[in-house]
Amino acid sequence: MINTDQKFKGQTVIVTGSSSGIGRACAVYFGQLGANVVVNYSANKDAAQEVLEEIKSGGGTGIIVKADVSREEEVQAMFSQTISTYGRLDILVSNAGLQQDSSFLEMTLQQWQKVIDVNLTGQFLCTREAARQFVAQQKAAEQQEESDHSELAIGKIILMSSVHDIIPWAGHVNYAASKGGIMMLMKSISQELAPHKIRVNSVSPGAIKTTINKEVWSDPEKYKDLLHLIPYKRIGTPQDVAKAVAWLASDDSDYVNGETLYIDGGMTLYPEFADNG
Ligand code: BGC
Repeated sequence: MINTDQKFKGQTVIVTGSSSGIGRACAVYFGQLGANVVVNYSANKDAAQEVLEEIKSGGGTGIIVKADVSREEEVQAMFSQTISTYGRLDILVSNAGLQQDSSFLEMTLQQWQKVIDVNLTGQFLCTREAARQFVAQQKAAEQQEESDHSELAIGKIILMSSVHDIIPWAGHVNYAASKGGIMMLMKSISQELAPHKIRVNSVSPGAIKTTINKEVWSDPEKYKDLLHLIPYKRIGTPQDVAKAVAWLASDDSDYVNGETLYIDGGMTLYPEFADNG
């Protein structure tokens, strides 16, 4: 369906990890809203190609770029390719992330390191590159006196966090530590970049129906247990998250800086206390 609201027309967005799940929904939605979309993937080219086709069939435009976000050279190459294709960057959705679950006692250094490398270091590398690009663009516009002196943000960064940036998660300490780290990464860079008119915020999804938690929602017993943790009594959809991300990337949220938006059907409301305690 072609969306008539083209609020991101002329803007370029990179969505990391957009060959599946929440990233995919964000990429498709930005495409519908008129943006040039960079669909990033690390392994599954066919899936990324499918996302690009979905964007194009909805009237949107984009490219696919392979990059492992935990590798500095690959991240820098992804940004270079974006700029050589579209000439500028306006929005980064730093989304790529994964889980490698294990009890704490059994967790290997490799499992710890992989999750920290992709979920946290990957966000550092991508957000730093985006910020450098925004500052360089602004400088170039000022030198050419092309800056429109608008009060609005010159660049927007959205980090994909999780309810597990505040909810501890036994059996997933690598993941929870990475997401807790994202919160302070986001707040600290937001504080540093706000004077440059760059807005940095996070979204923290709860249980969203994607492959990352398929094991839970595809099993009726586990799904029933999951709903005890969600006061709103439904699992979230990737589109629930994409809409919030688009709002944070838009001028409608121009005065929102350094915030974490929980998109979780109330999971962070301590639902166990509703009839207990
Ligand atoms: C995790 C999911 C989990 C959800 C709620 C997310 O960040 O990736 O696996 O279902 O948090 O616990």
